[in-house]
Amino acid sequence: MKERPRRLRRTAGLRAMLRETTLSAHQLIQPLFVTHGEDIHRPVPSMPGIFQHSVDQLEIEVQGIVEAGIHAVLLFGIPSKKDEIGSENFSDEGVIQLAIKAIKKVQPELLVITDVCLCEYTSHGHCGLLSPSERTAEREVLNDETLKILDRVAVSHAKAGVDVVAPSGMMDGMVGSIRSALDDQGYSHVSIMSYAVKYASAFYGPFREAVQGGAVFGDRRSHQMDPANSREALREAKLDVAEGADFLMVKPALPYLDVISGLALGFPEMPLVSYQVSGEYSMLKAAIQNGWLDEKDAVMEALIAIRRAGADLIITYYAKDVGRWLS
Ligand code: PBG
Repeated sequence: MKERPRRLRRTAGLRAMLRETTLSAHQLIQPLFVTHGEDIHRPVPSMPGIFQHSVDQLEIEVQGIVEAGIHAVLLFGIPSKKDEIGSENFSDEGVIQLAIKAIKKVQPELLVITDVCLCEYTSHGHCGLLSPSERTAEREVLNDETLKILDRVAVSHAKAGVDVVAPSGMMDGMVGSIRSALDDQGYSHVSIMSYAVKYASAFYGPFREAVQGGAVFGDRRSHQMDPANSREALREAKLDVAEGADFLMVKPALPYLDVISGLALGFPEMPLVSYQVSGEYSMLKAAIQNGWLDEKDAVMEALIAIRRAGADLIITYYAKDVGRWLS
């Protein structure tokens, strides 16, 4: 026998030298849920280990994140009240605007990324403005009207000091529209991390509990992508690059490794991010809490697989934990 690949797996040293993919804390982004009020550190039941934090609690939370070696957070807000157009989303006193300022005051070096979407802020829970149809179930998510609101949200986050805006609503033209709005208002330094390829996924389930959101009727299949499609992912990515996206994203992560790989090969010049979403996190946690999986081994394997497929950066609810394990 001439071919003996096992020779190269013989010792830990050899395995380390020949490892093709790496994972380090600076490749991870920690999502945070921010709520109004004081002294709030409220567990999200479907996501053990994840909390909603009030703005005053962020100082402690981001300190832990920075100490774990993580360089970036992604903020999601829970507004005090929701309405038809999601007004708090672009208010100077909105929960996210306050959170950005609070974080920048204590950790100016920490990269702050914000979700830009209407769904957490609208009374109907949809990602855009709705057509005024007689029958509720027939109301549709309007595209171009929604862009105007997204522009206002992005500019208002920029005014509060955000580094990166991450539009997640899958509206056509959102990247181009936000880019011009930011540039017009003097925020050309703010980058856009586009959720270029976001699937209409069942794995967002626990997130809806985390942000107390979700559509009151209907679903998101008229704008998020069909899980059966991959060629369409290239089309979405191409449009976002042309519109001025600074990063591309594939979401969810583990069930879509082929799509990550396709984008990595198709757009080698673009930084590629993938989002290990709430359902991926909760599945791992549930099995771990039952003693069915070893936490560190399972989490590291899932993350290295996402990196191996071609993601440069990973948004994961495990970021802080993994940062600690790695140090
Ligand atoms: C929309 C948004 C969602 C997630 C991130 N941004 C929910 C959705 O599209 O329905 C899901 C994230 C997760 O599941 O972890 N603002």
